[in-house]
Amino acid sequence: SFVPVSALLREAEREGYAVGAFNCNNMEIVQAIITAAEAEKAPVIMQASQGAIKYAGIEYITAMARVAAASSQVPVALHLDHGTSFEQVIRCVRAGFSSVMFDGSKLPLEQNIAVTRQVTAVARPVGVSVEGELGKISGTEDHIAVSEAEAYFTDPEEARYFVEQTGVDSLAVAIGTAHGRYKGEPKLDFERLSRIRELVRIPIVLHGSSGVPGEAIREAVRRGVRKVNIDTNIREAFVGTVRQILAEDADEIDPRKVLGPAREAAVEVIREKIRLFGCSGKA
Ligand code: G3H
Ligand code: 13P
Ligand code: ZN
Ligand code: NA
Repeated sequence: SFVPVSALLREAEREGYAVGAFNCNNMEIVQAIITAAEAEKAPVIMQASQGAIKYAGIEYITAMARVAAASSQVPVALHLDHGTSFEQVIRCVRAGFSSVMFDGSKLPLEQNIAVTRQVTAVARPVGVSVEGELGKISGTEDHIAVSEAEAYFTDPEEARYFVEQTGVDSLAVAIGTAHGRYKGEPKLDFERLSRIRELVRIPIVLHGSSGVPGEAIREAVRRGVRKVNIDTNIREAFVGTVRQILAEDADEIDPRKVLGPAREAAVEVIREKIRLFGCSGKA
């Protein structure tokens, strides 16, 4: 039922757009993602982090995503976001995910390569796509100075070696984005992105994309980014709406009156992102 991410990114490559990958943790966000994708007639990637899987349970995540995919006309992929162990990857493959990320960016290069290669070896034969990460994508909470962060940016030559050695379908790169909310405006190293792209020739994944100005996202897509990850902007819309509703009526106790509008706010953000990525109408 789920489409492999590699198939979605191949199409995106052919037409020069990017597919949105949206993090989900609960039913309302799963529904928001599928509603937005349907409204935009766009292929979509639902992704769950290890934290999301811990929170909701792997059966709930896969079951909710399955219902969303089965009830919709657009192609849907279910992807593991930032899997940090081979075991986690296996659990997701077994549960029916159509794509996994192995994030070995905290490991020394050769270890990152060794585990990522094990992942591609098991995922490939069963039609599951694999995203690798090279370089370190920081969090805005990590308190890393911009000058320091550059030391963690993806090295283009190393990227070529990594892709050759591992056989990943797509590559997450560190070029100046960060997870979470930015304090200032992020500055992306576009030349590095183009150089990486020249050397690896597979779809590039941009993490930490919430809070990146629209024009920078468009430029990244022009230079080969084919999957754009968004979590924080959904959280802001969702919880921001919850906060607003409770501020207006502190006595509200009906979860539907609180979470329904939060879900609608999430739909709007996701639709805007899909349009920004050039993915509207591509289903
Ligand atoms: O990469 C970070 C994503 O936003 C997922 O965050 O690990 O808190 O679910 P999480
Ligand atoms: P944001 O925190 O910028 O939304 O990034 C999400 C992400 O990269 C998930 O892997
Ligand atoms: Zn990420
Ligand atoms: Na971000």
